[in-house]
Amino acid sequence: MKAKILIVDDDPDIVMMLEDRLQASGYETVIATEGQQALDQIVHESPQLILLDLTLPKLSGLDVLKRLSHMKPAESLPVIVMTAHASIEAAVEAMKEGAYDFLTKPLDKDHLLIVIRKALERDALRRQVAYLRSEVDGRYASIVGNSLSVKSVVEAAQRAAKSDASVLLLGESGTGKELFARSIHQWSHRCAMPLIVINCVALTETLLENELFGHERGAFTGADRQQKGKLEMADGGTVFLDEIGDMSLSLQAKLLRVLQDREFQRVGGSKTVSVNIRIIAATNRDLRQAVRTGQFREDLYFRLNVVALTLPPLRERQGDVIPLAQFFLERHTRDAKRPGMTLSHAAMDALTRYPWPGNIRELDNVIERAVVLSLTDTIEPEILALLPDDASLRRNSDAPLPYVNLPYHESMEQHSRYIIARAMEKAEGNQTKAAESLQLQRTYLARLLKQQKE
Ligand SMILES: Nc1ncnc2c1ncn2[C@@H]1O[C@H](COP(=O)(O)OP(=O)(O)OP(=O)(O)O)[C@@H](O)[C@H]1O
Ligand SMILES: [Mg+2]
Repeated sequence: MKAKILIVDDDPDIVMMLEDRLQASGYETVIATEGQQALDQIVHESPQLILLDLTLPKLSGLDVLKRLSHMKPAESLPVIVMTAHASIEAAVEAMKEGAYDFLTKPLDKDHLLIVIRKALERDALRRQVAYLRSEVDGRYASIVGNSLSVKSVVEAAQRAAKSDASVLLLGESGTGKELFARSIHQWSHRCAMPLIVINCVALTETLLENELFGHERGAFTGADRQQKGKLEMADGGTVFLDEIGDMSLSLQAKLLRVLQDREFQRVGGSKTVSVNIRIIAATNRDLRQAVRTGQFREDLYFRLNVVALTLPPLRERQGDVIPLAQFFLERHTRDAKRPGMTLSHAAMDALTRYPWPGNIRELDNVIERAVVLSLTDTIEPEILALLPDDASLRRNSDAPLPYVNLPYHESMEQHSRYIIARAMEKAEGNQTKAAESLQLQRTYLARLLKQQKE
């Protein structure tokens, strides 16, 4: 598609020259010779860029710019101003009013085209970022829950969001820690800047260090150029350190310095890098216990724990189960293009009685699977295939598990989910303890849990 450019100038020679030049370069052009006409053209022609002369009769170029800033969605249109008198003051004034760049007359034709191309590229990027951001925000937009316990956490999170204080999110797996981290960023004054998520358990210590701090050229074999780390990329925004309880002690010491001074060095470097970041950390481990056993630094714990928010497990807020189930049902029926599906009364009953060891994530998965597997529009309890809790297993140990009728691989996967969820519940969300009871390496269990989430 050809980009459409609005040329606003009262000098017919300049208009003609610009038209020729821009059309020869593959742009479509529209013309206005005075300010009011320019504003009308913006509404009717929806150009992608405006070339605006500053000295116009009646409504000046600057007035056009000012009015444009109140016109949605035209307010963000890239405007390149042109001034005949090389009047830098007027150009500076125009830049303050939101112009993208300025050109002085007589116009240099090559420079003109470069500036236009750059402005259009930047605008395309801006729109792409806005689109991607809205996609991500949409996924994380709503915190569902009417229970008092969730409402009070939401209120505390909103209060914390207004400050730059570090926030520590605690709670079992799947209770919404990442959702809250994203929401706090959204509610904060940093929301237009990046939120960078760092998972502290997914990488080895060396890789994590590199990921956080970046490296200088020559820091290790293969480091052929300097690379910025995620802390630097987050400058001005928020860093979300997920699974912080699993970070090694030596990295904890380096992170402490970042929290104290907002400074660090890249791997293999001696230059100090300063960053302006807000830290949100999350863990499903008992950090106080980890401090007692020497696995977590006490000073770091206090630095992170300025505002601590604990997300309640789903079994303690039964009233939220059905609203959440409806919320996920709507999302997954939309994704699967199966509108009109509902939960039967018996299904709702089963959902409410179930203890949800995997919390909200498990509920999300259960509903998603039911939407895919159900042959009818009404979802019945059998299709939910909820895992039996320990009590019902003990009562009737010969009763077949609900997934035994599934194909072999699916059934094995369900069973793996079941024993892991049970071990995690018994260990109160502590991965190390759960791994011990299953006689698995903790990293292996972490990988299994991660796979299950995917
Ligand atoms: N109150 C809520 N309303 C709507 N969706 C929620 C809510 N809480 C959590 N979710 C959804 O549940 C899923 C799991 O949440 P999230 O990833 O934030 O949990 P988590 O605590 O980070 O889990 P883990 O410790 O396993 O990483 C996500 O898809 C999230 O969007
Ligand atoms: Mg998480």
